[in-house]
Order: sequence, then structure tokens, then C-alpha cells
Amino acid sequence: MGLVLILIFFLSLISSISPSYGFDPLDPHANITITWDLLQSVSGTNDVRVSLYNFQLYRHVEVPGWKLNWDWVGNEVIWGMWGAEATEQGNCSVFRGSQLPHCCEKSPVIIDLMPGAPYNMQSQNCCKGGVLSSMKQDPSRSGATFQMNVGGHADYSNFVMPENFTLGLPGYTCGNAYEVQPSRYPADGGRRWTQALSTWNVTCIYSQFISSATPKCCVSLSAFYNDTIVPCPKCSCRCQGQPGATCVKPGEIPSMLEQVHDPNEEPPSIVRCSQHMCPIRVHWHVKESYKQYWRVKMTVTNHNILKNYSQWNLVVLHPNLKSLTQVFSFNYSPLNQYGIINDTGMFWGIEYYNDMLLQAGKSGNVQTEMLLRKDPGIFTFREGWAFPRKISFNGDECVMPPPDDYPRLPNNAYRKFISSYIAILSLLLVVVF
Ligand SMILES: *[C@@H]1O[C@H](CO)[C@@H](O)[C@H](O)[C@H]1NC(C)=O
Ligand SMILES: *[C@@H]1O[C@H](CO)[C@@H](O)[C@H](O)[C@H]1NC(C)=O
Ligand SMILES: *[C@@H]1O[C@H](CO)[C@@H](O)[C@H](O)[C@H]1NC(C)=O
Ligand SMILES: *[C@@H]1O[C@H](CO)[C@@H](O)[C@H](O)[C@H]1NC(C)=O
Ligand SMILES: *[C@@H]1O[C@H](CO)[C@@H](O)[C@H](O)[C@H]1NC(C)=O
Ligand SMILES: *[C@@H]1O[C@H](CO)[C@@H](O)[C@H](O)[C@H]1NC(C)=O
Ligand SMILES: *[C@@H]1O[C@H](CO)[C@@H](O)[C@H](O)[C@H]1NC(C)=O
Repeated sequence: MGLVLILIFFLSLISSISPSYGFDPLDPHANITITWDLLQSVSGTNDVRVSLYNFQLYRHVEVPGWKLNWDWVGNEVIWGMWGAEATEQGNCSVFRGSQLPHCCEKSPVIIDLMPGAPYNMQSQNCCKGGVLSSMKQDPSRSGATFQMNVGGHADYSNFVMPENFTLGLPGYTCGNAYEVQPSRYPADGGRRWTQALSTWNVTCIYSQFISSATPKCCVSLSAFYNDTIVPCPKCSCRCQGQPGATCVKPGEIPSMLEQVHDPNEEPPSIVRCSQHMCPIRVHWHVKESYKQYWRVKMTVTNHNILKNYSQWNLVVLHPNLKSLTQVFSFNYSPLNQYGIINDTGMFWGIEYYNDMLLQAGKSGNVQTEMLLRKDPGIFTFREGWAFPRKISFNGDECVMPPPDDYPRLPNNAYRKFISSYIAILSLLLVVVF
């Protein structure tokens, strides 16, 4: 048994290292791609369509949303923009006339428009407040597009692709722009195709390690057959009293709350004081055992007092998930990237019901129950098998308790089982001989 636990522990160690460095075996091509289509070049100005596609299976972009930034190579300016806007107009004083450019910054920062933006400022597939759904949750809302008219001074002629792209999201790094096959657009009901003059792709990749050096989530465990609740490991995310580890005691009103918080900035993480100091805790409770099924209750609790998590998701690795029979109050989809081994699945909230995980407090949790079929020959309550191997919240891996601490089946129950087994066996022997 000890050997099995040690093995599980090492396996979880190995698998927990890889995603932090950008490669994720569950979603090996995970990326956000920025596509630039040069649509038209007319007398020194260029029409450009920029699209962002979130190709990640289970990582989304939530409020306050993406903030796309790049460096113009020359002295380009943006004359007009639809479906998004530059946060600063910048210094346009060299231009005279009745209409000034939309943005003269060398390094513009572009944000999405909010839903319901005026019709004449919109473009196709725009205006989502910077939010991009994950591919699994809602592929129809995983992309965003805006259009702009780029020009420059009198000497401006050819379009030059800008450099140094960033998404303004923690953890993402973007590569260089590569010219790719021009994008094609259907016309005349699909009977004809038009295409961009040129197209470039920029790929951005997420790394949990770059996003934050500390974890953001931890797991606690319990089971009906044992009174012990195994808490999140101490200091899972931070330690109380550590510099920078601010937390709020029950009943205390933090000074941060009194300050007016800018809705366009990611709120600072201020958590309820706990021994784990994580903004998110996932509790896995083995609730009941039936003849052919067993029941698990999973609760996600928000300990962050300043943040509501919208469109949250969980990725769970457990060998019995392939026999998942019913999930209550959450959506579920298997992530079976290895064909038949579908031991990993994704859970997320039901729209308008529990897709928003509210800030810490009475209603700051969401929960589900699930029914799993006991696969003969594999299923067991022994050796911590009933507990998950790995859990991620919003694509960031959660800290698990060490397997040695998992709730155990009571020893005497095992002894009773063994002794009755031996008794029956010896009875049989007596009968046979
Ligand atoms: C980005 O993701 C898409 C979809 O999974 C994939 O086709 C593409 O190859 C990826 N790009 C890179 C550079 O990995
Ligand atoms: C891109 O960033 C590099 C490094 O910061 C800088 O040297 C270069 O000038 C930037 N490119 C442009 C076009 O500004
Ligand atoms: C704006 O740009 C012009 C021309 O490049 C420059 O002369 C002027 O000093 C700039 N103004 C400010 C406030 O930076
Ligand atoms: C460029 O990105 C588009 C999606 O925006 C994708 O369909 C295409 O495969 C990408 N091309 C390359 C060469 O990665
Ligand atoms: C979270 O949502 C609740 C209910 O919609 C709202 O009252 C609260 O202000 C929100 N908190 C934050 C930090 O946005
Ligand atoms: C396991 O994967 C198969 C396809 O490979 C799928 O049809 C089935 O629904 C999955 N089972 C569960 C419980 O996710
Ligand atoms: C419950 O599990 C804990 C942790 O593994 C263990 O120390 C304890 O002995 C178990 N309780 C019983 C009654 O077996």
C-alpha cells in the first residue's frame, strides 16, 4: 500500500510540473492566436482586420479582459477603429484638419468595446468586453474581431507588420508575427471566396509559472467512512504573516474594500485568513456508496473577498470519470485526448444559475454531486483510490494534500472484512474436506 501511495505521489509530481512550463498534455496546442488580415491598401491607408482566437480547451479570458498591445515599426497612426478602441489617443499634434487620428501612440493599447456599443462603432464578432470563452465552454464566444484603418504621414506607403505583441493578461507570452496563407472569406452564399491581401499570425502561450509564482487553489478531502476532514496543506498558496500575504479575519473590514476599485483592472487577491491562504478551495467528499454506484459531492469555495469568478471551470483527473453516470447542477465534458483513456473531465457552471462564483461570503460557493458506476475489478475505497489525482481551477493546478494523509478506511472494518473472509474460507475448507 505504501508503495502505491508513493507511486501516486510521484506520478502527480511529474504531471504537475509539465503544465507550469507551458506544455499541457491535455491540451498540447493550447494558445491564443492573433490574426492580422490586410484587407485593402488605398492611397496610403490600409484596412486591417485583427482577430483573437482562444484555442484553449479549458482556460478562458475573464473580466477585465484582454488589452492588446504592439509596437509600430514606423510612424503609423490609426485613423479609425471599429469593434475596439485604443485606451489613449496620444500626441496627434502633427496632424491638422477637422479629423484627428483615433490613436497616434507608438505602442497602442487596444481594448474591446462593451456589449451594446453604438452600432456605428461595432464590427462583426465584436464587443464582448474583452471576455473570451474557452473552447469547451462556448466555442462561439471564444473569438473577437476588430477592424481599423492604418495610415501615417505623407511618406507612408507600404504596410509593415508591427512587433512585440502582448495580450495584457497575466501568464501569456506572444511570439513573433509570421506571414501565413491569406485568410479566405465566403461570398455569394459560399459559391465564391475572397481573400486577404496578406495575413500574419501571432501565437500567445500561457504559463502558470509566469502567471504567478504561487498556486491559486487547493484541495481538501473527506469521506463518509472516516470522520477526519483532510484540509488543504498548510501554506498551500502562501503563509499567514509572510510579506505581501494580506488576509482578512472574520468580521474585519479590509481597508482595500473602502478604496474605490477600478473595474478595468484585475482586482488584487485578498483572501479570508486560513491556514492555506488560497483564493479558491475545492472540497471532494466521498458521500455515499451504493451497490453499483458511488456518489461524490464537490464544492468550490471562493476565499477571495474582492473577486467574483465568471465562467469558472474545473478540470478533474480521476480514473473512474470514464464511468461517470450523472452530474447534478454543473455542466460536464470529458477531455479525452488519449482516445480510450478518458480519466479527465471538465466541469463548469450552468449559465445564469451558478456560472458565477461569487466573492467570499455566505453564497461564495458552488457545488455539484455526481454519480459514478463502480467498475468491477478497478473500483475500491482503499488506498485513497476514491480521491482525485489532480484538480485545476480555471486552468491553474490546485495543491493536493499528500497521499499519506488521505482519509483511510477504518482498520477494524478491514480486519472484520478479512476475518469474515478467512472464516468463510476456513468454513469452505472444512466443508470440502
Ligand atoms: C494554436 O492552436 C490551434 C488549435 O488548437 C492549432 O491548430 C495551432 O497549431 C496552434 N498554434 C501553434 C503555433 O501551436
Ligand atoms: C520591440 O522590443 C524590443 C525589446 O524591448 C525593442 O528593442 C524593439 O525596439 C521593439 N520594437 C519596436 C518596433 O519598437
Ligand atoms: C507632440 O509631438 C510633437 C511632434 O512630434 C512634439 O513636437 C511635441 O513636443 C509633442 N508634445 C508633447 C506634449 O509631447
Ligand atoms: C493562423 O491562425 C488561424 C486562426 O486564426 C489558423 O486557422 C491558422 O491555421 C493559423 N496558421 C498557421 C500557419 O498557424
Ligand atoms: C459580485 O457579484 C455580486 C452579485 O452580483 C455583486 O453584488 C458584487 O458587487 C460583485 N463583486 C465584485 C467584486 O465584483
Ligand atoms: C469516454 O469517452 C468516450 C469517447 O471516447 C465518450 O463517448 C464517453 O462519453 C466518455 N465517457 C465519459 C463518462 O465521459
Ligand atoms: C481516518 O483517516 C485518517 C487519515 O488518514 C487516519 O489517521 C484515521 O485513522 C482514520 N480513522 C479511522 C477511524 O480509521
